[in-house]
Amino acid sequence: MKLGNCLKVLKTSSHQLIAPLMVAMLASIVGLTFAILMKYMIDILASGEEKQLYDLILFAISFGVVRGLAPVLNGLREYYTGKLVEAREKEFRAKFIEENLHAGYEENSRKNIGMTMRIMHGGIQGHRTLIRSIFSGLLPTLFDVVFIIVTLVLLVDISIAILIAAIILIYGSVIIAQTKQRVPYIRAIASQDKEINGAINNYLSNHEGLLGWGRVHGALDGYKSEAAALFDTFRQNRVAILKHNIVLSIVIMLSMVLVLIYVGYLIGSGQETLGSFLMIVGFMSQIFLPLNAIGFSYRQIINAEVDLEKAFNYVHNKSSTQQSSPVGIPHKSLLNIEFSNVSCEVNGISVLEDLSFEIKSSSIAIIKGTSGSGKTTILRLISGLLKPSSGVVRINGINIQQLSPVRLSESIVVTSQESLLFNGTLRDNLIFYGEKLPDNDILNMLEMIGLKEFIDDLPDGLDTFIGDRGQMLSGGQRQKVMIGRALLAKPYCLVLDEPSTGLDEAAVKSLKELISKLSEKTQLLIVTHDQRLMHINNTEASVVDLDKKGRLANVKL
Ligand SMILES: Nc1ncnc2c1ncn2[C@@H]1O[C@H](COP(=O)(O)OP(=O)(O)O)[C@@H](O)[C@H]1O
Ligand SMILES: [Mg+2]
Repeated sequence: MKLGNCLKVLKTSSHQLIAPLMVAMLASIVGLTFAILMKYMIDILASGEEKQLYDLILFAISFGVVRGLAPVLNGLREYYTGKLVEAREKEFRAKFIEENLHAGYEENSRKNIGMTMRIMHGGIQGHRTLIRSIFSGLLPTLFDVVFIIVTLVLLVDISIAILIAAIILIYGSVIIAQTKQRVPYIRAIASQDKEINGAINNYLSNHEGLLGWGRVHGALDGYKSEAAALFDTFRQNRVAILKHNIVLSIVIMLSMVLVLIYVGYLIGSGQETLGSFLMIVGFMSQIFLPLNAIGFSYRQIINAEVDLEKAFNYVHNKSSTQQSSPVGIPHKSLLNIEFSNVSCEVNGISVLEDLSFEIKSSSIAIIKGTSGSGKTTILRLISGLLKPSSGVVRINGINIQQLSPVRLSESIVVTSQESLLFNGTLRDNLIFYGEKLPDNDILNMLEMIGLKEFIDDLPDGLDTFIGDRGQMLSGGQRQKVMIGRALLAKPYCLVLDEPSTGLDEAAVKSLKELISKLSEKTQLLIVTHDQRLMHINNTEASVVDLDKKGRLANVKL
């Protein structure tokens, strides 16, 4: 994506651009007016006219006001630029999340979440940098230049205006040309830096595994060789900056000497006043600073371009899958789930083949099959995450494709076989799907699932932090917290994907008691390869039995 495309990002909210633009212009005018005041004062003092005290007071007041206003105007410019940045960030984040959700299960399953997060942050940072570089860097400099040239034409002499315009042009061009030469380094640093951070992130998040297998040194060597390339680019960039600054110094030296000699000559020959001389010196020393910042802003914009390019490429090639007129599940009852000649291919791999079965409104249904037979894929089809490659999935007789995804996710809640807990408090994890609930409701539910005693013993109770992916809980406790989370969402049908993973005999026994208790309140669909779960106390379950290739081996309904 080129700068033009980056600017399009701004175009979308043009009404928000007016305030920061106006303030930036005003800040330039006020910031440079001091030099004009100096000119008039010096000219008055040099002329030896009467009323000098009165003029001196007027000058002092104006000079004070003009210099004093600068921080306010700069503050206002930052205020409006910040407002623009925030508005854009809010929109960008929402868009990024939405596009990723629309991308669907298949595409998202290929993604590295850490990378997705880094790309989103890169995009946010890119927006921020781009907007700030333009409104606090490029535009103020442009306004300064225009103001100086117009002032010189009106108050001094056109030849001086042309000379200074030429110097500014040469100086600006040298900066841009030199920065352009460094674009490859800047782009390389911007992307290498992020790749290395990604690699470090992987090493850090696999810390336990790496230490456990004694591989940490290998990982460090890998890091070092990747980092070597980055640090070499850093070095080349540093050398280029040094050369760049030497050339700029020469341009400043020559132009200052040239301007001073020329203006000195004009004063000597009586064509210009001492005041004009001071004004020009004031302008010259004032303008080199923002001109230098052009290089900085330009580099920042290139960095932003790299980040935005990544972020937009990441989200923009998604096909959104809006349903035409989605409907809800007709009435709250035991759901009838029907697979009719369903085949499913995921990321090019055939997972289910011509599968047909019907779970007829039973309070407990079990889908069993060996590991890899396609059980979780069936759940993804039922919850609408995946679409069948052929065949139809129906719930209460309605093709699932016609159901509203939101209503579907309210009606059927799946507790995944992996822990989907996050690093927060127990309460945050439990109420993840829904609105805030009174502690009493949460505790009643915990009582039912047999977690209340455990939580009562914790010093912070529901406010206890449970660590990354809930690692401060045991496997059985994690399962129960996930079941609790699903129950608080009050689904018609609760789906448990391999709920006995990693549980010992005692924990399985308590899970079976829980399942039998739950089945009195909620419809349950249990997916498992665990023989221990086949007979749930006295409850008679419907069983769908898959063979290795995701085809029907047996059915007992
Ligand atoms: N996102 C995916 N991309 C490619 N293959 C997948 C994906 N998800 C599942 N599979 C493949 O589909 C098969 C069935 O997976 P799954 O439904 O998770 O089995 P089960 O839950 O019965 O163990 C496996 O061979 C698995 O490798
Ligand atoms: Mg599975």
